[in-house]
Amino acid sequence: MNANTPYDAMFSGVIGQEYDLLKLICPFATEMSRLVGAKLGELAATHQQSLQVVELGGGTGITTLAILSAQPDLKVLSIDNEPTMQRQAQQSLKTWVDEGRLSFSGEDALTALIAMPSDSVDAIGSAYTLHNFECTYRQKVIQEIFRVLKPGACFVNGDRYALDDIDAHTRATQQEVAGYFKVLTDIQRLDVLEHWIIHLFSDESANHVMREAIARQQLAAAGFQQIEFSHRLAVNALLTAIKPLS
Ligand SMILES: C[S@@+](CC[C@H](N)C(=O)[O-])C[C@H]1O[C@@H](n2cnc3c(N)ncnc32)[C@H](O)[C@@H]1O
Repeated sequence: MNANTPYDAMFSGVIGQEYDLLKLICPFATEMSRLVGAKLGELAATHQQSLQVVELGGGTGITTLAILSAQPDLKVLSIDNEPTMQRQAQQSLKTWVDEGRLSFSGEDALTALIAMPSDSVDAIGSAYTLHNFECTYRQKVIQEIFRVLKPGACFVNGDRYALDDIDAHTRATQQEVAGYFKVLTDIQRLDVLEHWIIHLFSDESANHVMREAIARQQLAAAGFQQIEFSHRLAVNALLTAIKPLS
């Protein structure tokens, strides 16, 4: 964060350095990573060869580890354009890198996807990354995800999917904020509290908020079928969507 880019590189400062505290203020986040891993593990179990997964926004490696743990021969390319976050994953997941099961890209999601051939990726997984994207960037990422997936392949995303009932969404977000205050004032981390509240304003802003019905329309417009939201926990849900065979 600096005078020119005060708040947009949201994972480079206090949030990135203290990302583990998210487990305390948003226990659902860890559960969503587990669900993403479990879904990709199910797919890997039915796949003839080792499943090659592209992960968008690997962060500090929480979701990456859940994906790698789901199946012993599955391989992951983890993409994240924030070094403060990715460095932590590179350190904690070195064993999987040494085994040849994990590699990293420091490009942003759209640039990395654009560089991939069409119909080339077995599965794409992500958690808590797409909701950070500005809406038009997100739409382009979804189109690229569709293009690079092999026919029949699956996109799995555990994320903040805003409720279509706006009043219910506001109430859920208010409860979430109350939880941030409770946990972070108890452990006297007002610095982290400040940054998560600032971050939440970005998540909830009109050009970022990822509302379920709009997300469904965008996925369908890109060509996805069998678009399903499940495991909803307050403002969080698991999305699965399939690229049709033809
Ligand atoms: C909230 S973290 C989620 C990390 C991890 N999946 C988890 O659930 O703990 C979001 C991550 O997405 C990354 N990110 C945000 N925008 C990105 C972009 N355009 N391309 C690649 N990564 C991005 C951030 O750097 C951050 O590490």
